[in-house]
Amino acid sequence: MVRIRELSAAAGQVVSVAGWLHHRREGGRVRFLEVRDGTGVVQCVARREALAPEVWDVSGELGLETSLRVVGPVRRDERAPGGVELVVQELVPVHRTAGYPITPKEHGVDFLMDHRHLWIRSPRQAAILRVRAALMRAVREFLDARGFVEVTAPVLTHTACEGTSQLFETRYFDQPAFLSQSGQLYNEAAIAALGRVYCFGPAFRAERSKTRRHLQEFWMVEPEMAFAGFEENLEVQEALVVHVVERVVAACAEELARVGRDPEALARVTAPFPRLSYDEALRLLRAQGLELAWGEDLGAPHETAIARAFDRPVFVHRYPARAKPFYMQPDPDQPELVLNADLLAPEGYGEIAGGSVRIEEVELLTRRMAEAGIDAAQLEWYVDLRRYGSVPHAGFGLGIERTLAWILGLEHVRETTAFPRLLYRLYP
Ligand code: 4AD
Ligand code: MG
Repeated sequence: MVRIRELSAAAGQVVSVAGWLHHRREGGRVRFLEVRDGTGVVQCVARREALAPEVWDVSGELGLETSLRVVGPVRRDERAPGGVELVVQELVPVHRTAGYPITPKEHGVDFLMDHRHLWIRSPRQAAILRVRAALMRAVREFLDARGFVEVTAPVLTHTACEGTSQLFETRYFDQPAFLSQSGQLYNEAAIAALGRVYCFGPAFRAERSKTRRHLQEFWMVEPEMAFAGFEENLEVQEALVVHVVERVVAACAEELARVGRDPEALARVTAPFPRLSYDEALRLLRAQGLELAWGEDLGAPHETAIARAFDRPVFVHRYPARAKPFYMQPDPDQPELVLNADLLAPEGYGEIAGGSVRIEEVELLTRRMAEAGIDAAQLEWYVDLRRYGSVPHAGFGLGIERTLAWILGLEHVRETTAFPRLLYRLYP
């Protein structure tokens, strides 16, 4: 059996291909069957006079998405996608299919989402999933090459990281437990063992948000660095995003074309990224008629407006402490601000990463926890990290789905993962 992607190397040979019937075109005494196998699509040409009558009949009967094997010689044909076609000699259905629900006509989003288990077979959706894999590979490639050690953070946790309003609660035998919102707190422990670490896994947020950028389950890569400060934290984000975009553009030209994304839009993604302080961001918003009270976090419309003003990702830094989680280090020059930054993607995509310098002093940390209404006894281990060899440290989290939606120019994050968990969707 030869995979379709490798067919052009087999020109002239008789091969067997296994896949699914994607499309059929009738040409009188000839039939063109497009077969896909996950690596590509090949046109298989069935000629009436060259085939036994029963094979010819089968070639006309099979429903779309029938799984099958085709045997025949590979023939060069400049007009064919991939430069080759397969001349049908044998055609063996594996499982016959009738009435495949997804047809070339337009379907509504709800219908497609209800049939997501089948929808992912469509060339556009499969291309997105391939790019997702390439993006995740590029993230690991970058961090591994820079000496970050991947650490697995737990998914079942005993307390909140990013605020209690968004927790999915479950049971851990006889005690309550929560699905992880972020592996950051565990990373802060791991840096004292390994120096520079990252965790890469799912995060869960019970956000009652139905927007094109919110998922209730998403993937996040979270690097954390001992002995690093504000500047380095931003530089690593810049370099990571530049690397990921370069790798995806280089490795996924076919997929970008398939989803209609012009790689030109990504050619401007070079470091350094512009930086705006929170106060500058408020001024920019005001100039566009968007008022935001000082102290409030930016919402989606604000991020969109800021991100639209730039042609590459932009950092908004030093937010008011009260808009952000308890663990962020105050700015020594303006203690009402924190040493954080959110990275907003251009073309209106908004926040793709968020990070900060972390508090290193035990007194300050426990005071900020108390102000945030967090019981320090619940996070004794986290406070301990400030008692035993505390160091300046910083890190960030990059959301995979939002980054992918921006890189591919997608309307909605629901297409960025095989089986998205959305506010009103846990099926399939
Ligand atoms: O800004 P967030 O909440 O930051 C943290 O969780 C930190 N603990 C990360 C760290 O410093 N280690 O989330 C980080 C990123 C966001 O910028 C966004 O890309 C993504 O995670 N994200 C979501 N993506 C999809 N759906 C949601 N509901 C998301 N919430 C956050
Ligand atoms: Mg954030």
